[in-house]
Amino acid sequence: MDVNFLISLISRWTHIGTAIVLTGGLTALRFVVFPVLAGHPDLVESIRNRWKKFVHGGIALFLISGFYNYIKAMPQHKGDPIYHAVVGTKILIGFAVFFFASVLVGRSAGTKKFRDDAAKWSLVTLLLSALIIGMSGFVKVRGLPEKTTPATAEPAKEANP
Ligand code: HEM
Repeated sequence: MDVNFLISLISRWTHIGTAIVLTGGLTALRFVVFPVLAGHPDLVESIRNRWKKFVHGGIALFLISGFYNYIKAMPQHKGDPIYHAVVGTKILIGFAVFFFASVLVGRSAGTKKFRDDAAKWSLVTLLLSALIIGMSGFVKVRGLPEKTTPATAEPAKEANP
C-alpha cells in the first residue's frame, strides 16, 4: 500500500477521532457531570484532573494531524482563497478552543474565573467546536472549485507527442 495514502488515512482518522472524543467528553461533562455533581466540588476536581490528560493529548494530536492535513491539502487548493480563508479562520477558532479547554482543566489562579463558571465556558467551547466542525465539513463537501482543478489534474495526454 502507498505510504502517503496510509499516513493521510491515519492523520484523518486521528483528527476526526480526536474531535469525537474531545467534543463528546466535554458534552458529557457540561450536560451530565457538572449538573449531577454540582454539590461535590472535590469529585468534580478529581474528574477534571483525569480529563486533563485527554485535553492535553488531544491538543497535541489535533495540531500534528491538522497541520499535516493542511500541508497535504495546500497544493490542491492553490488559487482557492475561500478554502484558505475558511481553514485559516477555523485554525484561529481552534486556538481559542484549545485555550478554553486548557483553562477549564488548569490550576493557575489567573484562570480560576473560567473554572468557577465552568458551565458557561464549557458551553462556549462546545459552540465554537461545533462551528469548527461545520467549517471543516464545508470545505470538504465543497471540494475543489473548477478553476483549481487543472493544477492538480493528471498530466495532459498531449505530453506524449
Ligand atoms: C490548529 C488546529 C487544527 C488544524 C490545523 C486543523 C486542520 C484541518 C484540516 C486542514 C482539515 C482538512 C480540511 C479539508 O477537507 O481539506 C481538517 C478537517 C477536520 N477538522 Fe480540523 N484542524 C484543527 C483543529 C480542529 C478542531 C479543534 C476540530 C474540532 C473541534 C477539528 C475538526 C475537524 C473535522 C471534524 C474535520 C473533518 C471534516 C470533514 O472531512 O468532513 N479540527 N482540519
